[in-house]
Amino acid sequence: MKEDLSELKTIPAHVGIIMDGNGRWAKKRGQMRSSGHLEGLKAAKRIAAFASDIGVKYLSYYVFSTENWRRAQNEVDFIMGLVMKYLREEFEFYKKNNIRVRHAGDTSGLKPDIAQEIRDISKETKDFNGMQIILALNYGGRDEIVRAVRRFLVSESHASPEKKALTEDILRRYLDNPDIPDPDLIIRTAGEQRTSNFLLWESAYSELYFSRTLWPDFSEADFRSALEAYANRERRFGAIAPAHIEQSEAS
Ligand code: FPP
Repeated sequence: MKEDLSELKTIPAHVGIIMDGNGRWAKKRGQMRSSGHLEGLKAAKRIAAFASDIGVKYLSYYVFSTENWRRAQNEVDFIMGLVMKYLREEFEFYKKNNIRVRHAGDTSGLKPDIAQEIRDISKETKDFNGMQIILALNYGGRDEIVRAVRRFLVSESHASPEKKALTEDILRRYLDNPDIPDPDLIIRTAGEQRTSNFLLWESAYSELYFSRTLWPDFSEADFRSALEAYANRERRFGAIAPAHIEQSEAS
């Protein structure tokens, strides 16, 4: 059943989610952290289906950061195992919903089987033209910028004299997914109010929304609340708000 979203003025084209609170969700129940991640995966599937249904075009999930390697080895292994399973077993879901799966981050730091799985699923879903899910895995915003600069330095743009002066527009082309528009809205769950190196370049003008809900409990209604908050934000991208132009010209 399609959701009634008639009272929402705008649906963000690109939503990024920092899925925080899996560990706390498990701790509250006296369970292992891994069961929090398992429930977190279920929430990710739920929200992906909902987002696709209501017309979000891009959904970026912060699955594993370049800093998350500092966690205990068994937790790292568990999360990587979940990702493998998710990529392998959800093909029918992507197909049914016409979802294209993509990756952001450094594949060279991942185990070869996971890196291969990411390449495979990206290839198998590349012609699906519905929502795109971007899995940020071994991703760090600063790391992405450094890798972009490295790619630029060995590129023809760098070698050709007329392009020697590096601009924002040129460097943007060397980011992980230059064709994807910047996120309009970034949601972080579980009460923390920071962006933790997620889409550092791309989030320059993103609206931020912080929810106290722990990620495994994050529901369609919570997502909808985030969209409602977004619809009431006034995005100015550094310009003057239309309502204030007259006033500022008069003064
Ligand atoms: C943050 O909670 C969550 C993670 C670092 C892992 C996120 C992974 C998943 C939700 C599963 C995989 C999802 C997909 C889409 C493949 P935390 O462990 O930092 O929680 P805490 O702050 O309460 O300890």
